Parts: sequence; structure tokens; C-alpha cells
Amino acid sequence: MNSKTKILVTGGAGYIGCHGVLALQNAGYEVLVLDNLVYGHRKIVEEVLKAELIVGDTSDRHLLDQIFTVHNINAVMHFAAYAYVGESVTNPAKYYRNNVVGTLTLLEAMLEANIKHFVFSSTCATYGEPQQIPIPESHPQSPINPYGMSKLMVEQILADFNSAYDFKSVAFRYFNAAGADPEGRMGEDHNPETHLIPLILETALGQRDHISVFGSDYSTPDGTCIRDYIHVTDLADAHVLGLEYLLKGGASTAFNLGNGNGYSVKEVIETAKKITQKPIKVVISDRRAGDPPMLVGSSDRAREILGWQPQYADLSQIVQHAWNWSNK
Ligand SMILES: NC(=O)c1ccc[n+]([C@@H]2O[C@H](COP(=O)([O-])OP(=O)(O)OC[C@H]3O[C@@H](n4cnc5c(N)ncnc54)[C@H](O)[C@@H]3O)[C@@H](O)[C@H]2O)c1
Repeated sequence: MNSKTKILVTGGAGYIGCHGVLALQNAGYEVLVLDNLVYGHRKIVEEVLKAELIVGDTSDRHLLDQIFTVHNINAVMHFAAYAYVGESVTNPAKYYRNNVVGTLTLLEAMLEANIKHFVFSSTCATYGEPQQIPIPESHPQSPINPYGMSKLMVEQILADFNSAYDFKSVAFRYFNAAGADPEGRMGEDHNPETHLIPLILETALGQRDHISVFGSDYSTPDGTCIRDYIHVTDLADAHVLGLEYLLKGGASTAFNLGNGNGYSVKEVIETAKKITQKPIKVVISDRRAGDPPMLVGSSDRAREILGWQPQYADLSQIVQHAWNWSNK
């Protein structure tokens, strides 16, 4: 790899983005982070990753033009988005403006600067209700909330840009990102937090009274929902492989990123009890609208085409790393 290859990472101060920056640095790339810090953490970028940070928004075309003029950027890794599914239902405008219009602004600025390689954070939420498990990339995409729809719209824009401008992209459809840097330098720190594993660990730490389990009467072996948890470091590694695939001339495409093993909410809680050795109070609540019983992806394509090998597929490792981070 050319050591001068420079990557713009949007959302690099966020949970997955900062692990992406680390993976790029480890692979020898130069990285420039663009983050509006609405949810990101300046300290992680500046003090832990020691990467250059530009505080700004992907909707700011003038800023993007400046960045692409001043910096010799070869490709963009686009993690920046708003990602609260519930909020996207009550405030869809915020999601379409940021996730679609903000991304389109970025893509247009890239075209103007003749930068045509793009790695995009998409989501399994683009599939909607699963018709088969594990879900392959060829599964129909029919999102059931504006968040998932905003990501699907960007996938469509990318397909059209590919046809019209020979613009090359990889869209990664993540399942549930989880865990933390195995060396404990970075981890999940959303505010508000809505993800299961950090919420369980906050309960173990006494920062929450209990963990709510939404529905225990699903058609799954223990009655709770089953999800596919993918270690954030494995996700980050896949991004580097996706980037290299594009830089070597790979065609535009999409890949699922999950670990292929589903774990139920109860299994995750039991694993967390074992690892933390703390009591975790559980309250069973009603089902939430739009929660399918099971969401598990097939990531065979990423393994076959990118040679991706998840290193931390075991739930205990994922929870252990998240615990090491949150119990610091
Ligand atoms: N966490 C998951 O399980 C998951 C699953 C599927 C997809 N994703 C996607 O992965 C990406 C990263 O998710 P995350 O969990 O790290 O979220 P995050 O909120 O921790 O990170 C997103 C970062 O983007 C920044 N940002 C948002 N809009 C911006 C804009 N317009 N301009 C500049 N910066 C902006 C935020 O400040 C934040 O630092 C998102 O695109 C999300 O939709 C996440």
C-alpha cells in the first residue's frame, strides 16, 4: 500500500468511526477526521488516536471543498450519521436531512474533487422484516423506519452514482456493533445509550436500576429476541479490507457484516452476569413495535470476496471487551 494514501473519515469521533480510524492507522494510512461532535468525542481523536480532527458537518459544502483542496484525499470512509431508530420515527426530517442530504452534499463535493472511492456505513435496518434467516445481501430491502430508509436512499444514490459517474463504493450493512478495542483504548459511549450490551453493563455498574427486556414470548428458544452481535474491531478491519478492495479496482457492492451467530437477550444478560460477577436486575416489559424475533445476517460474501475473518466472534469476548472499557 502507498504510505501516502490519505483517507477522510467522517464520524471518526463516534463509536465505530474511531475504531475505523485505528484500523486505518494500523494498516499504514494517513487519516483526517471530520466530525461535528454532536455525538462524537474529541478526546478520543486527539488524545488516543492522535489524528487530525476537523470539527464540521458533512452538510457544509464550503468546508468540504476546502478540505478536498487542501488535503490530498484518496478515499472517504463515511460513518457520520444519526442512528437513533426511535427518534427517526418521531423526527424523520432530522434523519433525512443529515443522513441523506448531508451524504449527498459530501458525494457531490467528492465528485467535484474527482475522489471516487467511498466506504459507507449502511445497516441491516435496510432489510426491514426478515423473510429468511440468515439474511443474505440479496434479501429484499424494505425498511420499516426512517433511519433504515435514509440508509437505503444513500445506497440507491451510490448505485446511481456508480452508473453515471463511475463512482465506486462499498456499503457495509452492519448488524449490531458491540464490544470495544481489545486493548481498552476506546469503546462504546453513546449519549443517550440505547444499545443492549452497554445498557446491561451500566446496570451491572449500578448506574441503572434494571435492564428492560422487551418481550419474553417471542417464537425463539427462550422467548427473547435474537440478534447478531459483531465486534467493533472486526467491523473496523472489514472497512480497511473494503477500502483496499476499492483501491484495487473492485466493483461497487454491498456486504453484510455480522458474525452469523444469533444470541438472545437472555443469553447476553447471562453472559454479562458471568463476566461482571455482578447482580443485574431484569424487568420484563411489553414487546416494542417493529422488533422482529430474530435478526441474523450471513456475512459469507465479505469472507469470500474480502477475505474477512472476524477475530472476536464469541459473545464472551465481545462482552468482556465492553466490560473492560466501561469498568475502567
Ligand atoms: N452502532 C451500530 O450498531 C450500528 C449499526 C448499523 C449501522 N450503524 C451506522 O454506523 C455509523 C456509526 O455509528 P456509531 O454507533 O458509531 O454512531 P455514533 O453516533 O457514535 O457516531 C457517529 C458520529 O458521526 C458524527 N456525525 C453525525 N452526523 C454528522 C455530520 N452531518 N457531519 C459530521 N459528523 C457527524 C457524530 O458526532 C458521531 O461522532 C452510523 O452511520 C450508523 O448509522 C451503526
